[in-house]
Amino acid sequence: MADYDLVVRGGEVATGFGTARCDIGIRDGRIAALAERITDAAATLEAGGLLVLPGGIDSHCHIEEPARGGYVGTVGEPVVTVSEESFVTASTSAFAGGTTSVVCFVPQWKGEGLLPRLADYERRAARGMLDYSFHQIITDPTEAVLEREVPQIVAKGIRSLKVFLTYEPLHLSDEDYIKVLVAARRNGCLVTVHCENYAAIKWRTERLIAAGMSAPKYHAWSRPSVVEREATHRAIALAELVDQPIQVFHVSCEEAAEEIARARHRGLKVWGETCPQYLTLTAEDMDRPGFEGAAFMCSPSPRSREEHARVWEMIRRGTLDIVSSDHCGFSMAGDKGKAVSGRDAPFRDIPNGIPGLAARLPILFSEGVSKGRISLDDFVRLTATNPARLMGLAPRKGLIAVGADADLALWDPAKKVTISNRLMQHAIDYTPYEGLEVTGWPVATVRRGAVVMRDGVVQAEPGTGRFLPRGPYEMVRPRGVLANGFDAAPAG
Ligand code: URP
Ligand code: ZN
Ligand code: ZN
Repeated sequence: MADYDLVVRGGEVATGFGTARCDIGIRDGRIAALAERITDAAATLEAGGLLVLPGGIDSHCHIEEPARGGYVGTVGEPVVTVSEESFVTASTSAFAGGTTSVVCFVPQWKGEGLLPRLADYERRAARGMLDYSFHQIITDPTEAVLEREVPQIVAKGIRSLKVFLTYEPLHLSDEDYIKVLVAARRNGCLVTVHCENYAAIKWRTERLIAAGMSAPKYHAWSRPSVVEREATHRAIALAELVDQPIQVFHVSCEEAAEEIARARHRGLKVWGETCPQYLTLTAEDMDRPGFEGAAFMCSPSPRSREEHARVWEMIRRGTLDIVSSDHCGFSMAGDKGKAVSGRDAPFRDIPNGIPGLAARLPILFSEGVSKGRISLDDFVRLTATNPARLMGLAPRKGLIAVGADADLALWDPAKKVTISNRLMQHAIDYTPYEGLEVTGWPVATVRRGAVVMRDGVVQAEPGTGRFLPRGPYEMVRPRGVLANGFDAAPAG
C-alpha cells in the first residue's frame, strides 16, 4: 500500500510566509508531509510550478436560507425569499472558484425559537459537498432563546451569533443587541454585525419613494456612508460596554473602517470584513435601465472608484482582515428572486444581495496580488487563514501545514479570464462581475484530499460536505499578534 493517497507534485506552496517549492503528501484527507520529493503515492496531481494555496474559506455566505422579509426594506407584510442556490449548486460554484469551506446562516424568524429551523438547515446543508459551519442569526432575542437555546447551539459547535442593525423585520433595537452581546459573552461566541442605521434608512427611503425616486439606483441614495459609519460606531461602543468581541460585516467605506481602526487602536476586540463588491462595483452600476440595476443591489450599497482605493488602504493597514463574498442567490428572471415583488417594485422591496462565491478569490487575487496592491501572503491571510482563525477553525483549516485538512487550490497566477456567468457554475442567472477581466485563476480544487475540480470540471458526490464544529474564535490582533480568545483550545 502506498504511503500517501495523493501527492500534489512540484507546486509553489503558499505557506503564509512566502512560498516553498515542495510536494504535498496527503493521507486520510489530511496533509501528512511537505517535502522536496514524495514518491510513494497512490495518485498524483501535477502542479507544474503553479501556486498551491489553502482552499478558500468564505465566512459570510447566504445559501438556501429561507428568509422572512428576506433582506428587503419593506414595512408591510414581509415577503419570504429562499435563495435559489442550494448547497449542491453552491458547492459546485465554490469548488469552481477555489473555495472549500463556508460559514453560512441559520435563520431565526421572529416569534420562533432557534432549534426547529436549525434542524431544517442542518438537513439542507448536509446535502452539499462543501465543508460548512453556521452563524446563528438572532432576530428575536427572547429569554428562552438566549438562556436556553443559545447554549444548546454553542454545544453543537456554532460559535457565532449574527445580528442586523437594519432590514425589516430583522433589525434589533439597541436594547436587544445588548442582550445578544451579553448572551454571546456568557457562551463564548463571536457576534457578527450588519452595521447600518435602520431608522435613518427608513426615513430616507420614505422620502425618496414619496418623491417618485424608487428606481434601483435610489437604493444607494437611501443609505449613504454616514448610516454605515454611525451603526458601526454604535455596534462597537455597545460591544465595548459589554466587553464582547464583534466582527463588522461587509465594510464598504473608509468612514466605517476608521471606526474599527480607532477601536482596535484602543485594544478593543473588533474585526472588519469587506467583500469584492466594495472593491469593484459602484453605485452607478445600479443606474441601469428599468430593473437591470437590481443586479448590483446589496447592502451596504456599492460606492465609488475613489472609495475602492480607500478600502484597499484599509486592507493594507490590516483594519479589514477578512474578505468574504456575502454570496446571496437571487436570480434576475422569474418571480422568486430579485423580482419577488415585481419588476416595477420600488427599490425598497427588491431583495438585497448578490452572488460572488466563485468570483471572490479570482477578483481579490487579480485586483489585489496581480495589480500589486497586496502580497500573496496577504491574499492567503485574507481569504483563508484569518477566517479560519476568527471562526475557530484553525489550525485544521486555513493553512497548508502537516496535520491540516488537505484543502487546496491549485492556482495559475498568469491565467487571464473574462468572468462570465457560465464560469461561476452557480444556480443564479447572472453575475454582477460579468465581463470583468482577471489575471489568476484556480485550475484545480482539492477538498480533504479529493480532487473536486480540475480545469473547471467539478466532480464531487452530494452529501460529502462535513459540518465543522467550531472552537472559540482566535483573535488576530493588529500587527499580527495572536492571542486565544478563551482558555479552551480551538477545535481540531
Ligand atoms: O445585501 C446584502 N448584503 N444581502 C445579504 C444579507 C446581508 O445583509 O448580509
Ligand atoms: Zn448584511
Ligand atoms: Zn450577508
